[in-house]
Amino acid sequence: MSRTILVTGAGRGLGRTLAELLSARGDRVIAHARDEDALKGLPYAKALIADLSRPESLAAAAEAAGIDLLDALVHNAGIAHIATVGGTELERWQDSLTVNLVAPAELTRLLLPALRNARGHVVFVNSGAGLVAGPKWSSYAASKHGLRALADSLRAEEKAAGVRVTSVFPSHFDTDMQRHVRERHDSDYDPRRATSPDSIAATIASVLDAPSDMVINELRVEPPNPLPIRPRS
Ligand SMILES: NC(=O)c1ccc[n+]([C@@H]2O[C@H](COP(=O)([O-])OP(=O)(O)OC[C@H]3O[C@@H](n4cnc5c(N)ncnc54)[C@H](OP(=O)(O)O)[C@@H]3O)[C@@H](O)[C@H]2O)c1
Repeated sequence: MSRTILVTGAGRGLGRTLAELLSARGDRVIAHARDEDALKGLPYAKALIADLSRPESLAAAAEAAGIDLLDALVHNAGIAHIATVGGTELERWQDSLTVNLVAPAELTRLLLPALRNARGHVVFVNSGAGLVAGPKWSSYAASKHGLRALADSLRAEEKAAGVRVTSVFPSHFDTDMQRHVRERHDSDYDPRRATSPDSIAATIASVLDAPSDMVINELRVEPPNPLPIRPRS
């Protein structure tokens, strides 16, 4: 059965892999990116163009995309500023919370009528840092802890409307973001010990495919033999 699924951050990383997988199996993908150039080469039905660091622009962008029925909304786009609390400037805090938390909340609010119409599913791509916060993770972890709270409230509020809500907490997978995180922690990295974006995308697709008489509220995934993020001594 073909479904209409919006994926944020579909231009690269996990979002692109997921959008490709969903399109290939016949879903109607609404691909979000900052600009249309980022979506070149990606098969998609419709684009939603918006900079998530400006959530006030989302209402006009969602209106322009004209979405009346939405089977699933996958909040994937995100940023990771890695620095100590003492080294994190105000702008970084604002950026992290805006892109990773405020924008998903606003986009969800705007698309709730379309999600209710379809008895749809909202998936939040969270992180292990949304469960536990270590050194240099403060702004990212705070945004992801907040994202979990957003998911929990939404689930409780919308269950009567038939809207399902899932938080997925991956440990680490092989994308630009993971390489950036390792650099900022001055940590070794071995992509062979990370999960592939294909595996995470397939897992999200299987969450969307869960039987309609159940919802996977939360899912934690990690590589079988992860290389810890640890500064080189
Ligand atoms: N990689 C990991 O190990 C890992 C682990 C746990 C959780 N996660 C989470 O998984 C999700 C995907 O991560 P990833 O590894 O695929 O990251 P990535 O490779 O860095 O890609 C991030 C995506 O988010 C988009 N994005 C960032 N800021 C944006 C903005 N202001 N407006 C619009 N789009 C914006 C990017 O678009 P642009 O190209 O325009 O920047 C890009 O499409 C994120 O939520 C991340 O926190 C990742």
